[in-house]
Amino acid sequence: MEERAETGSSGTRAGRPGARHILVAVAWPYANGSLHLGHLAGAYLPADIFARYHRIAGDRVLMVSGSDGHGTPITVRAEQESTTPREVVERFHPEFLRYWDELGISFDLFTTTLTENHAATTQEILRGLHRNGFLEARTTLQPFDPVAKRFLPDRYVEGTCPRCGSEGARGDQCDACGATLDPTDLVDPRSKLTGATPEQRETEHFFFLLPKLGERMLAWLESREEWRPHVINWALGFVREGLQDRAITRDIDWGVPLPDDVTLDGAEGKRVYVWFDAVIGYLSASREWAQRTGDPEAWRAWWEDPAAESYYFIGKDNVPFHAVFWPAQLMGSGDLNLPTDVPANQYVTFKGAKASKSRGVGRSLLDYLAVYQPDALRYAVAAHLPEQSDVDLTEEDMVRRINDELAAAWGNLVNRVFAMTAKTFDGIVPEAGELGDTDRALLAIIDRTLADAGGAIEAVELRRALRLALTGAQEVNAYLNDMEPWRTAKTDLARTGTTLHIALQAIAGLVVAFAPFTPFSSATIHGWLGLDGTLEEGGWQRPEVPAGTRLGEATPLFARVELAEDDAAEG
Ligand code: MF3
Ligand code: ZN
Repeated sequence: MEERAETGSSGTRAGRPGARHILVAVAWPYANGSLHLGHLAGAYLPADIFARYHRIAGDRVLMVSGSDGHGTPITVRAEQESTTPREVVERFHPEFLRYWDELGISFDLFTTTLTENHAATTQEILRGLHRNGFLEARTTLQPFDPVAKRFLPDRYVEGTCPRCGSEGARGDQCDACGATLDPTDLVDPRSKLTGATPEQRETEHFFFLLPKLGERMLAWLESREEWRPHVINWALGFVREGLQDRAITRDIDWGVPLPDDVTLDGAEGKRVYVWFDAVIGYLSASREWAQRTGDPEAWRAWWEDPAAESYYFIGKDNVPFHAVFWPAQLMGSGDLNLPTDVPANQYVTFKGAKASKSRGVGRSLLDYLAVYQPDALRYAVAAHLPEQSDVDLTEEDMVRRINDELAAAWGNLVNRVFAMTAKTFDGIVPEAGELGDTDRALLAIIDRTLADAGGAIEAVELRRALRLALTGAQEVNAYLNDMEPWRTAKTDLARTGTTLHIALQAIAGLVVAFAPFTPFSSATIHGWLGLDGTLEEGGWQRPEVPAGTRLGEATPLFARVELAEDDAAEG
């Protein structure tokens, strides 16, 4: 068609031609409590934006995660509630599934670490490390509670951090400085069970001989030139300080058991360390997904083909495990693909947290979903993703983004153009007619917006991509202000038709640009535009909305949100 050359799609694809295999690996939340905006901003939303973009771009995406169901975070909670660890996991796992459903976080599989498949996969990796000489059984001293008569792994010991001196450090990690710890590292240790000062008792454990991988790890990290500075700098610093042997088993009865052929003294009372098994979840979930699709070998395309890419979406407290320990587990056990990138986010803190009781700020994601439309919540959080530094988010910031940007600049634009087309052209897309420079310039801007936003998402600069989409919407608003179709409708129907035709083509392009961020409304507008096929099938490009198309009836896309009274009062 002739018109296609004038106003049709640009054909620009941000991705390289041909489908790439993209593994979107998302942090496994401990199933011991509800999730908050910090979790959403830190891992789930950025992962979903990235996955949705790649699906639209025509790539083969596999997005997996699940409930982290092992370790002391679960057993401590179970003991506090006099219930079983399994019951705790089975309570929170369905809640997590509801978040993903309601927020549109589009996992291919969100499973748990309690499956047989996961235990088998964990044992396989452990066997691989053992076979290759990276595990050693060693008798060590571990903290033992003389009152409870139990060993005290990880979070059962609290004390002072040996690195930063912070008092609330736990036996596995110090939240204040991010140090990964062993229970024996703590200064002034106390038992979380009884408050007793732990004794040191002998027990046998497997140690991962990380120093043997030090050089290879350093060379690999040095080749990771495109990683975020805060991630690569942390990882390089950690490895250059010198890797230490790390215990990967615990005296605990909840977790993945040791394989029969790679075992320890008193193995019945020992389990694999939760962080050793949790990261293996990415692999076991990929396999489970393949089994469920009926092609049990399908996972290999994302793990064995060196051209496949893998992106790990996590918060910064998980950097050690994803930038160093998990790669070491992979290097030492076989030849599966190492992470392409670990685009860890920094923290989101909430100034409004105390002031927002009625809205449940600081509470579960479901509390937010009771107040905000899913796309509005996604938009507000995406606009503040802590990609390079911590972000302090207030309720006011969220409300302003939703009202001034999402609803005013984008939603109203769509609703206005549809309303004008309904009024002047009976809801039928008018002919393009004769295009002027301004018309062509707008379409060029939208095509550039898509190309640039695609490039930004490829580089995991998601805030920048969202800003580009918003700027694109502002360009269409400026175009309408110049062309004044509401005025020309009285004098020049042909010109009015051209203006609305072009505005609709621009909107069709922006629907694609916004889709990774606000998928629900993009799908709705895509439907109103009467386009053939799904949005994803159209590719990362501006589709053509042919003249003569009957548009759907548009209804207001985004409700304005008001600041809750108590926020306004204290804000
Ligand atoms: N459960 C851990 C946390 O909530 C994250 C685990 S991510 C993993 O901090 F996939 F590596 F396990
Ligand atoms: Zn510390």
